[in-house]
Amino acid sequence: MERVRGVLKAHLERAYAPYSGFPVVALVEAEGESFLGVNVENASFPLSQCAERNAVAAMVLAGKRRIDRVHIYSPKGPIPPCGGCRQVLLEFGSPETEVVLHGPEGYVVRTLGELLPLGFRL
Ligand code: THU
Repeated sequence: MERVRGVLKAHLERAYAPYSGFPVVALVEAEGESFLGVNVENASFPLSQCAERNAVAAMVLAGKRRIDRVHIYSPKGPIPPCGGCRQVLLEFGSPETEVVLHGPEGYVVRTLGELLPLGFRL
């Protein structure tokens, strides 16, 4: 876990969050590989993209589609993922998928099912 925490912290400065001042780094473990994402904000605020969804996009581009574990780091954390990201994570994960919420002092582990009960699936 310490190695992952180091990777998350090392990428914090890559987040583009000039409007909120709230940088977030996400790391998705999928099929033996890891994919990073940071939040990318925009002057047109609703166009801002969460770190988790950017990590999922990198995973899909690499040809992976099964999320095994998710890590989310915020200097103000541990923070839970937003509702929209929970739904996006469920698309490629399951209610049993671990979501590790990291902050500077430590982390807590939840499952996606705990974070998104009765998640919608087709
Ligand atoms: N943010 C994320 O990147 N992930 C979340 O799950 C929560 C919110 C970002 C979006 C925005 O750039 C900033 O945090 C403040 O909402």
